[in-house]
Amino acid sequence: PNTATPDTALPGFAGVPPSSADTVVVPPGYRASVLLKWEDSLGIAGTGGAGQAVQAGMHHDGMHFFPLSADGSRGLLVLNHEYTDETLLHPDGMEPATVEKVRRSQFAMGVSVVEVALRRGEWELIRPSPYARRIHGTTPMRIAGPAAGHAWMRTAHDPSGASVLGTFQNCAMGVTPWGTYLTCEENFQGHFGAAPGSFRPDAAQRRYGLAADGSWLPWWQFDERFDLSKHPNEANRFGWVVEIDPMDPTSTPVKRTALGRKRQESATCTLTRDGRVAVYMGDDSRFESIYKFVTRDTVRPGGYAANRDLLDHGTLYAARFDGGGRGQWLALPATAEASIHARLAADAAGATPMDRPEWVAVHPTTGEVYVTLSNNTQRGDPGRPGVDAANPRARNAFGHIVRWREHGGDAGASAFEWDTYVLAGDPAVAGAGARYPSAHADAFGAPDGLHFDSGGLLWIQTDMSGSVMNKGDFTRLGNNQLLCANLATGRIRRFLTGPRGCEVTGCVLTPDRRTLFVNIQHPGETSDDGGTSRRGWPDGGIPRSATVVVRREDGGMIGT
Ligand code: FEO
Ligand code: CA
Ligand code: CA
Ligand code: CA
Repeated sequence: PNTATPDTALPGFAGVPPSSADTVVVPPGYRASVLLKWEDSLGIAGTGGAGQAVQAGMHHDGMHFFPLSADGSRGLLVLNHEYTDETLLHPDGMEPATVEKVRRSQFAMGVSVVEVALRRGEWELIRPSPYARRIHGTTPMRIAGPAAGHAWMRTAHDPSGASVLGTFQNCAMGVTPWGTYLTCEENFQGHFGAAPGSFRPDAAQRRYGLAADGSWLPWWQFDERFDLSKHPNEANRFGWVVEIDPMDPTSTPVKRTALGRKRQESATCTLTRDGRVAVYMGDDSRFESIYKFVTRDTVRPGGYAANRDLLDHGTLYAARFDGGGRGQWLALPATAEASIHARLAADAAGATPMDRPEWVAVHPTTGEVYVTLSNNTQRGDPGRPGVDAANPRARNAFGHIVRWREHGGDAGASAFEWDTYVLAGDPAVAGAGARYPSAHADAFGAPDGLHFDSGGLLWIQTDMSGSVMNKGDFTRLGNNQLLCANLATGRIRRFLTGPRGCEVTGCVLTPDRRTLFVNIQHPGETSDDGGTSRRGWPDGGIPRSATVVVRREDGGMIGT
């Protein structure tokens, strides 16, 4: 790889300006094309390709590329489908709700596996493919780790407490050293509900956002396991990291309860000095914490077969950020209760409540860890936690990025040193308090997705909310976007701007850095038209989330 290029030349592209256009913009010399949209057939052999349960789901999010060939020209793209927009999912909207609509909404979330190949400079879907697979809201899965079989995990449908149907609200992700995919269940609480007055949440249920009137969709009226008054334990079976073997389409996904239950964001893996795995996780709600799970045992050669139970034994920690740039990993009790109620265990241990921790990325050679804190407009409000060293802005509308170095450079350490990498926002806005690592940094807001390529460039993706985008203090930041940061120089350059209303997420580069895959989520989303102006990206019809491929016209390495 391009070692002759001095660091100061990176990123080596002309940055694109902020944009409010309804299109994807990339730098001169680059080309972007749509690869996989919502409702595209995945090419699952023998299915005919029709129906949401075998098509690409909605609202693409975290994603990874698993090479299938030594030269990386064939591989699997594995991607999350976070949530549903029911006004687009059903031609007549969710009302009136029916059992068929509830099923379709369950089928539209989860994970897609597709086979892709690079042919004559273009990535194509291989359809049919023996690897192609949909995992969705009713796919059978196993529950493993300390909470498996516990009384709180048992339901009328599953007296064993060790098997469950489905995964949904799949947001960020991770990849294990043995080549499996970790999908993270984020806002699961919004799918549970009950008739008014029939369910009163206890303190733990409240902490996880469960309430009789908490459901976004009336699943509970048509699929009884989501009725909190009848099956309250079903909600304990969501909010986990789920391990999927993309190489075996017949494999059963496994919910790994040792990693703790939260509104799961990221399950970013790295190795400890002695060869165990450390998994870094965010919990994306205001004033929730950052976690690390360290396995008891070391990784063994031999792929998933040799490491099937590795994530079931270990220690779960929550982070406390102290002043002076010091931090501590606080070990949580190794019990089923502490795993199911990880938030309560983190409180009891004294973890720091953060400004919505989202993605975590680990530098490929230094092991330095970066985390996005997307925003927290309630920081410092009456009755809410005030500012602290690691969350230094009250009513933090723009978000920030914090980084840490594990003590002794060992991901297994129980202490770390940290600092703030970026305080995001428009530096021209008085009082915004924006701070970038150099004068050569393009401004952005609401950092969310985060990815290190194999050369150590950091790719930052944004998720400014539609209620603030292109307005007020956010006017000059434009649509959501993807930026590229050179840690050595402090340069941050805007690489891609998304269409109107979208979030940019799921960025992953191939190991040779010659292809960048990225997801455009919820294009056309607006907060102020009631969902009526529903035409647009990518093809002028109803807007569709999609995976976009970016290549250089000269076939060179992206970002250099
Ligand atoms: Fe689904 Fe926290 O973003
Ligand atoms: Ca996110
Ligand atoms: Ca989002
Ligand atoms: Ca977000």
